[in-house]
Amino acid sequence: MKKILIVGNVIKDVYLRLDNRNNAFETDQNGINWLDIAFNGSNHYYYNRVSIYGGASISLEVLSRFGLDAKISGTPATFIDGQFIANETRTNYRYILCRDDNTSHIEASDTAPTAWEVPTVSPDWIYIDSSAILNPTSVNNIINYLDLNQRVKLAYFINRKTNPNATHIFELIRRANLVISTKHLEPIIDNYIYIGKNSIEYSDLQVGWELSNKRDLLTRFSANLTIAASMLGAIILGKNPTESLLLARANIQSAKLSNTANLNTLEQNITDDYYRVKPTAKEQTMSEVAETAKKLMAPGKGILAADESGGSIHKKFESMNIPDDEQHRRDYRNIFFTTPDLEKYVSGVILFDETARQLADNGKTFVEYLNSRGVIPGIKVDQGLVNFEGSDEKYTQGLDGLPERLAEYYAMGARFAKWRAAFELTEKTPSDMAIQKNCEILADYARDCQAANIVPIVEPELVYDGDYTIEQNIATTSKILDTLFAELAKKQIELAGCILKVNMVLAGKRQDEQSSADEVGVATAKVLREHVPAELGGVVFLSGGQSVVQATDNLQAVTNNGPFPWTVTFSFARALQDPALQAWKGNNANADTAREAFLERLIANANALKKTS
Ligand code: 13P
Repeated sequence: MKKILIVGNVIKDVYLRLDNRNNAFETDQNGINWLDIAFNGSNHYYYNRVSIYGGASISLEVLSRFGLDAKISGTPATFIDGQFIANETRTNYRYILCRDDNTSHIEASDTAPTAWEVPTVSPDWIYIDSSAILNPTSVNNIINYLDLNQRVKLAYFINRKTNPNATHIFELIRRANLVISTKHLEPIIDNYIYIGKNSIEYSDLQVGWELSNKRDLLTRFSANLTIAASMLGAIILGKNPTESLLLARANIQSAKLSNTANLNTLEQNITDDYYRVKPTAKEQTMSEVAETAKKLMAPGKGILAADESGGSIHKKFESMNIPDDEQHRRDYRNIFFTTPDLEKYVSGVILFDETARQLADNGKTFVEYLNSRGVIPGIKVDQGLVNFEGSDEKYTQGLDGLPERLAEYYAMGARFAKWRAAFELTEKTPSDMAIQKNCEILADYARDCQAANIVPIVEPELVYDGDYTIEQNIATTSKILDTLFAELAKKQIELAGCILKVNMVLAGKRQDEQSSADEVGVATAKVLREHVPAELGGVVFLSGGQSVVQATDNLQAVTNNGPFPWTVTFSFARALQDPALQAWKGNNANADTAREAFLERLIANANALKKTS
């Protein structure tokens, strides 16, 4: 039997049915009735008092009735033979005032922080329900326990008063295998349940439900706990999304005060309701590329650029005396893809054609291997830079045969692509012609990608190597972005299914006056806000030859200037991979040290996506 450890507060709901028959109510000029009420037992303005258990005891009851082995952490409460038995000292009180069949509730002021005790027998799931009141210390203790017990899954029903962006809460969300919320959060993880006022949404499906206050006075808080625990119980039992939604709906529709149904009763009840499950409006209108882009831009994650062309890898390996052969290139990439927790920090990886066809240790292609880890594989499809005739400026080639190549990559399992145009900023360059031509090519590439259901990452890079000022960068990056989005509009690119990869806005590497992180944050945020349409799928940065620490610090500064209309994150190659290359040195005996070096950069950059000010 699966074990679930509930983290939450047992709450006793004391329903006080207010007495209409006395004249203690005062009516104000808006017709609202007011009552002075004291909870000292001396005022008897209610004529009926019913106490029932709520909060974590609802989770305990529902999961137990689903046949699961559930306990509440740090609380000697049990649910046996249809009876909830609690220890009163750990109970918090809420008073539910009922009048004219309406309810409102008052929470007792001394609600205790939630108990967390390290379990002696490790559970299959930890379920933090919405009754939990967590401080950063208890979150840390839970995270530490989960770090030591990777096998234990976490379900987290975020209390509506909790700020999901608070650092410690964000950590929990990131670790969670299932997140439940009564607010529409951006999908933070794939397994996300939304409990709305009249609908429950899960896995692009939704079912309607109603809280009939009038019938049984169940509070919304208790109703939501019933729904959440029913969904969780069904998922743990291996039910599919449709079955889970129907079970939850059946349970809430038949629930009475402190009385939910057993699983087998529910299973008999749900057949008539099948017609009520339908795809969410989101799902109906969203194209495949928009959906992929949304997954790629999962908040808190970035995209690893592991797509250096043969020439770039050759230079890197040569500088470290590493033989540049296929086996070494494969082993190098293998380090990144097999790093523990990769999927926690990156949503996608951009591959070079050779790597996409190479095999992981388990004999599957790297594309398949990454997909199996929940990381979306992407592919660099441009074929490098060539000079415009009679000019030093360059354009990007690779449009010939692109539709056929994209179809092949899609069949292999890749879902997004990258195309890089590069501009040098000097007195004379980039010329209007070079900007215009490269942006036209980028738009042609984007159109071919979307026709193949592949998300295009359009990358117009203003290269860091130069002696320009930050003001010159602001002007040039702005001009490039304006041209690019005009071309994308002309070719009717669906912006929600397209991602911009761009340089941060800063002074050139050879400029005496280097930009501080604060300057980079402000300038980059301003340029993006003013020149990138809000409908775009997302914005990612290249590191462009900045030092490892500089790239992270600048990313943090950009984050601090948010929020933005789109998710903004990293898609570095060098700033994520260089420390690992230095550690590996071409010798697989160093692979673990290299993985650690990579993981350190992943964590640092994921942290830089959280605001510090
Ligand atoms: P860097 O982060 O090393 O600039 O590489 C990102 C990239 O993909 C350039 O095309």
